Amino acid sequence: MAAQETAVKAGTTAPLVTLQERDFRFARRMSRMPVSAIRELLKVTEHPEIISFAGGLPAPELFPVDAIAQAHAQVFAEEAAAALQYSTTEGCRSLREWIAARMQTQGVATSTDNVMITTGSQQGIDLASKIFLEPGDTVVVENPCYLAAIQTFSGYEASFIPIDSDDKGMRVDELEEVLRHSRPKLIYVVSDFSNPKGTTLSYARRLKLIELSTRYCIPILEDNPYGELRYEGQGPPSLGALDTEGLVIQLGSFSKTLSPGMRLGWLIASEEVFHNAVIAKQAADLHTSTVQQRAAARMLQTFDYDGHIQRLCKVYGERCQAMRSAIEQYFPQDVKATRPEGGLFIWVELPERISADELFIDAVAEHVAFVPGTSFFACEPRQNFMRLNFSNQTPEKIEEGIKRIGSVLRRRFA
Ligand SMILES: Cc1ncc(COP(=O)(O)O)c(C=O)c1O
Repeated sequence: MAAQETAVKAGTTAPLVTLQERDFRFARRMSRMPVSAIRELLKVTEHPEIISFAGGLPAPELFPVDAIAQAHAQVFAEEAAAALQYSTTEGCRSLREWIAARMQTQGVATSTDNVMITTGSQQGIDLASKIFLEPGDTVVVENPCYLAAIQTFSGYEASFIPIDSDDKGMRVDELEEVLRHSRPKLIYVVSDFSNPKGTTLSYARRLKLIELSTRYCIPILEDNPYGELRYEGQGPPSLGALDTEGLVIQLGSFSKTLSPGMRLGWLIASEEVFHNAVIAKQAADLHTSTVQQRAAARMLQTFDYDGHIQRLCKVYGERCQAMRSAIEQYFPQDVKATRPEGGLFIWVELPERISADELFIDAVAEHVAFVPGTSFFACEPRQNFMRLNFSNQTPEKIEEGIKRIGSVLRRRFA
């Protein structure tokens, strides 16, 4: 309801509207941004008795706490003034150097000058949106897609071209058809162990995607926060490594390898895109926390990052396997689940008549939680899917939780 203006007596500072009558005129974009179902769900699942497969949380017991604490202590002992001062938008040079060197070993032809530190890879999604998207532009997304990317693109008033995916990732053949008659501004893809499905874009599809991006001159936003977390098999090269035309913008993150609380990610792009991204970041937050950047840079000089990743992969690989086995054992036969080789998620397809939203309510009553798949669809929500996270529970809890969901499912199937 529109606010009613109240009379203002001459010479007084009485407000034009009373508090009760206040009606903020929020920007149109806010009504387009879906509320994160996951954030809302996490509130329900905070209860200690609940076995939660809902959040995308890394295991806190695997955070390298001592190394992070020691690095912070060194920063404060030896470079406190610089760490507490404003700094450059591009980020701490030594951290950018470390990232550039690591990406080079993975076949990405980048230099330190093309690496920008971001406040998590989430900020990279936001910056790419800010520099490319105008209201009404379209973005190609996988269907289903990472929810907070849908939120971000919606915030820039973009529309979606959802492309279905299968066990080999996005159906690039379908995209080829679409590109014959539409001109999206951006192609967004989580190439390794996607969120929510856990699937990986195959090598052949990567090559095809790069070819399409080049032919139609459409930048690819490759979001890859899970790439280091591979538990089996050999991964194909990243899109960034296959790109020779500077059309891929790569996003990376320390959230799943070191700690999400540090809020450290990166964006790698060719010169023109990079330049615009720096301007966009200046307007967003000037720069990412200098203290965190310097602590990470210090730590990575001596920390056995590869050894740490191996430990993560061992534990998460066991949890992934525990969840797969439990699904086979406790879920009805006609339930399908993805078989991820890494990452944090398994995506489950239920028969069409089963609503995961309704199942969620029954599951919480049994003290177990997951994310109903509905909100991962950019356009037409589908009810019969659920996302299960396996990184944040022990194998024993995973078995117990899946058993409980299984019994809820069997009741629904009966
Ligand atoms: C696909 C994807 N991109 C980006 C992010 C955000 O990560 P960060 O903590 O680096 O901002 C997430 C977090 O779960 C994610 O799943």
